[in-house]
Amino acid sequence: MPGFELWGAEERKEVNDVLETGILMRYGFDGPRKGIWKSKELEEAICKTFGSQYAQLTSSGTSALTTAMAALGIGAGDEIIMPSFTFVASFEAVLSVGAIPVMVDVDDTLTLNPEAVRKAVTSKTKCVMPVHMCGSMADMDALLAICKEHNLILLEDACQSIGGSYKGKMLGTIGAAGTFSFDFVKTITCAEGGVVMTNCEDVYIKCDGYTDHGHDHKGADRGADLHPFIGYNFRISELHAAVGLAQIRKLDKFLAIQKKNHTALKNILSQVPEISFRRLPDPNGDSCTFLSWFLPTEEITRAVVAELKAQGVLPGNFYWFDNNWHYIRKWDHLKQSITLNALSEEQKTAVLQQANKDFSASDAIMSRCISTAIGLLWTDEQLKEKGEKIVAAVKKALSEASVTN
Ligand SMILES: Cc1ncc(COP(=O)(O)O)c(C=O)c1O
Repeated sequence: MPGFELWGAEERKEVNDVLETGILMRYGFDGPRKGIWKSKELEEAICKTFGSQYAQLTSSGTSALTTAMAALGIGAGDEIIMPSFTFVASFEAVLSVGAIPVMVDVDDTLTLNPEAVRKAVTSKTKCVMPVHMCGSMADMDALLAICKEHNLILLEDACQSIGGSYKGKMLGTIGAAGTFSFDFVKTITCAEGGVVMTNCEDVYIKCDGYTDHGHDHKGADRGADLHPFIGYNFRISELHAAVGLAQIRKLDKFLAIQKKNHTALKNILSQVPEISFRRLPDPNGDSCTFLSWFLPTEEITRAVVAELKAQGVLPGNFYWFDNNWHYIRKWDHLKQSITLNALSEEQKTAVLQQANKDFSASDAIMSRCISTAIGLLWTDEQLKEKGEKIVAAVKKALSEASVTN
């Protein structure tokens, strides 16, 4: 997810515009800022690029999720159904609004298994939150149908899938709201930042106030603004928005390179019949930030990972099953409900219960999965070498496994 790989003069120019005026904050200072409004400009560009009616920038993807949940009215005691494979930020946001993360299994799409979602719905369920992991999409038709049937909110965590789409709609714009992260390793980066996208004016107005201490942004100055509700400071700065503005203009270029490199790598790996690939609910909508592939067993996958490590080519190939950040198996802090500030007894009990369920169906998927991050700067030779080294490691592990058996 490498926007930072193609950083250059365009980003410096946008940042310099802000440095020239010295107005680093997105609100107020109308005179001294001399017409420079980078955050507003980026929000307009986001709406245009992704086909969303409204966009509210935030300080991070995490705060975008928190903001979206608050604006959608999700709070104390509400259950949010979410996948066992995501980044920790997804459940952090749920906890921060007082809600309960209900983890359910993923399938070979690496996203929510719709059947598992259906089984997890209770009278407390308020929201289903698919996470479009590793650049690609959840089965949105199936999830939208469940939400419609049970009158649930669908919130998309699209933080990792900027530029991906599902049946012609951009990921992040399909549910009641959707979020992107613009942190340093995302498809386009602001260094730190995020956005909530929505087609609902009321949700947008709430996001606008919530990210800025509840200001209604209608006063003659900030001191004259009213506060129709309590908010927080999840503002982005003009410097960060300036970087994002240069990056969003390069998005088509990033996506085209990703697609080309993804296709070439997939062609090389396809030589090995034992390698299978992630199932895509809409094959045309993959943003191609990662190529995710499966091996027949956990044992063979571990042998491949060990061989890639021995060859010095493991960086960029992610075995999420052992990763401390992305998969429930290693989320001990969540499973033990370790927080600095006390949760309510009700929330704590529910979290412990939810996070300690049986995830063997997810294990069966994740223990066999490797995701290879697609680089923007790879030369054809480097790509070929990477692919061939992976193929060699897989062939070695397969032949050793057949000898042992
Ligand atoms: C799926 C997912 N959700 C949320 C986030 C949080 O984004 P941020 O790092 O901008 O807070 C990330 C970041 O990696 C993510 O991958």
